Amino acid sequence: KTIACLFDLDGVLVDTAVYHYKAWKQLANSLGFDFTEAQNEHLKGVNRMRSLDMILNWGGVEKTETQKLALAAQKNEWYVAMIDRMTQAEVLPGSVALLENLRQAGIKIALGSASKNSGMILQRTKLTHFFDAIVDGNVVSKSKPDPEVFVKGAQLLGVPVADCVVFEDAQAGIEAALAGGMKAIGVGQEANLKGAQLYVKDLSQLSVKDIVALTEK
Ligand code: G6P
Ligand code: MG
Repeated sequence: KTIACLFDLDGVLVDTAVYHYKAWKQLANSLGFDFTEAQNEHLKGVNRMRSLDMILNWGGVEKTETQKLALAAQKNEWYVAMIDRMTQAEVLPGSVALLENLRQAGIKIALGSASKNSGMILQRTKLTHFFDAIVDGNVVSKSKPDPEVFVKGAQLLGVPVADCVVFEDAQAGIEAALAGGMKAIGVGQEANLKGAQLYVKDLSQLSVKDIVALTEK
């Protein structure tokens, strides 16, 4: 049977969380309040406009829809200036080797990211060619934990959800995978990844065999 691996981008394959954090912090500070790394943890996997709503709420600030669009655009401008300078060196440990091994094993690979900047990040870090399908914030409307982003990936690859394995660094992403009927591998801090079938610190700890075994459970 054909199996598929669906990868989140930010925090799983590349280390962009720190750039999101810096850009949001700059925005919060410009509005007169602070933004912590603990708060940033809750924004992983959450799309841009929803993230902004959460930040404004934490800061106790109210804005009109028009103002919100301008604020989100400002944050994105700062963020894009940072990711524009990304290189292959920012690909997280084990990512390239695992992607190569999966391809060699005939396993399908899709991206499942909430980001509207995924195309640029994949290009700068030279990962684009690994993907059979790219599903990102430009084509989905519902934010994780809704399973839409992963279900679309499975459909594009033509692989049943039960034979799909999702790689996620965010609780919302693990929940999205499980809601979609898929297996979930948590990458990063176990405390932030409840419900995953398997946890790893980074992708260097995983073999194709481990992943295939998970789909046989
Ligand atoms: C990923 C990140 C989130 C980010 C979202 C949207 O899911 O984990 O922190 O808010 O993408 O990213 P974007 O690049 O479209 O603003
Ligand atoms: Mg992520």
